[in-house]
Amino acid sequence: MTQGGAHPSPSGALAAPEGFPLLAHEAAGEGGLVYLDSAATTQKPACVLEAVDAFYRTNNANPHRGAHRLGGAATEALEAARRDVARFVGADADEVAFTSGTTCALNQLAYGLAGLLRPGDEVAVSLLEHHSNLVPWLTVAKLAGAKVRYLVPDRQGRVPDGEIDRAVGSRTRIVAVSHVSNVLGCVQPVERIVRAAHDAGALVVLDCAQSVAHLPVDLHALGADFAAFSGHKMYGPMGTGALYARRGAASALGPLLRGGGMVEAVFEQGFTFKGFPAVLEAGTPNAAGAVGMAAAARFLEALGMEAVHAHGEALARRMAAGLAAMPSARLYGPGPDGAEERCGIVAFNVRGVGADLAARALDRRNVAVRAGAHCAQPLVRHLGAEAVCRASTGVYTSERDVDRSLGAVEAARQDTANLMTSAML
Ligand code: ALA
Repeated sequence: MTQGGAHPSPSGALAAPEGFPLLAHEAAGEGGLVYLDSAATTQKPACVLEAVDAFYRTNNANPHRGAHRLGGAATEALEAARRDVARFVGADADEVAFTSGTTCALNQLAYGLAGLLRPGDEVAVSLLEHHSNLVPWLTVAKLAGAKVRYLVPDRQGRVPDGEIDRAVGSRTRIVAVSHVSNVLGCVQPVERIVRAAHDAGALVVLDCAQSVAHLPVDLHALGADFAAFSGHKMYGPMGTGALYARRGAASALGPLLRGGGMVEAVFEQGFTFKGFPAVLEAGTPNAAGAVGMAAAARFLEALGMEAVHAHGEALARRMAAGLAAMPSARLYGPGPDGAEERCGIVAFNVRGVGADLAARALDRRNVAVRAGAHCAQPLVRHLGAEAVCRASTGVYTSERDVDRSLGAVEAARQDTANLMTSAML
């Protein structure tokens, strides 16, 4: 099986784009694709595609169900994947349940913990949350007569200590925050948040959807009670993800989905559940996806998460510096020189050009960025915008890619100026 691109590239990327079949295909011609939408989903290295393919070719059977040889092989493949994914985030295998992604895991957590909420209780979230870590809490808080309180970030996009002290207190039952903002790329002070929440007697849910692809994440060291992350944002397949529950915390969590695989015994008038993680894995699991997610975790481990972080941070600073030097660009969140830790995600707008139009102009130059509210409307509103462009890097992104995208931003502004001039003639 190939290492799938876990080699430095002459272009300055951390992993050669040629090891990612889609990027290799796209880069075939002059002016090949600059893919800066990795926060939405990363491209997949060959080793991940091969692992998924190999599961179906050689191990395909229903895990934890068949007494036959292939059933055993499928079970072993799924459980080996669980061990790899758990190790990747500093957890033990029996603390990780597979889900279809972060959204599924966070809904499971919100509904599974809803029984802890009473009228007048509070759930604290930050204003940076994407909708997956907000809408489920708004829903269960309303059902329970509880309230959602917000930790408000500073101009650099980081939640200050004073905000944590203000928003987390004796009424707080759950604190649910993102580790890394999907819009601004800034890293939140989660150790401080976890300490404050535990001092207040609250449980902590970490949304690690972005952080697992960019930072070394050690969930035991961070001390969170629960965490959620997706496979597809960390170079694994879509439709994969995980829910982490600290040993001892899982018992607070009721199952959202019920059916085969999660029950111990079923009677005409009742049933008993299995323990975690099986209790959260009702139905046939996406075993091939889990195997692909584990291949992605091993791929990132081979690169080294310290190196992945340094690479993304350097690219983000280069992009931010380029944008800050352009009078036509407006940068959001951390500036190029700030001391705060950040990941390879940069939000910006081109003055006088709507985010969607700017992204389309970049696309004409074969630079792919996302434009809009990025499933984080309260944050984008807080930034004083209706929509922003977001450039998000991956391990296959090089300085040359960043420079080409900066050139495309300048050209997008020029396109609009030309259009306005011709409209006036
Ligand atoms: N939440 C994903 C993003 O940030 C889809 O783009």
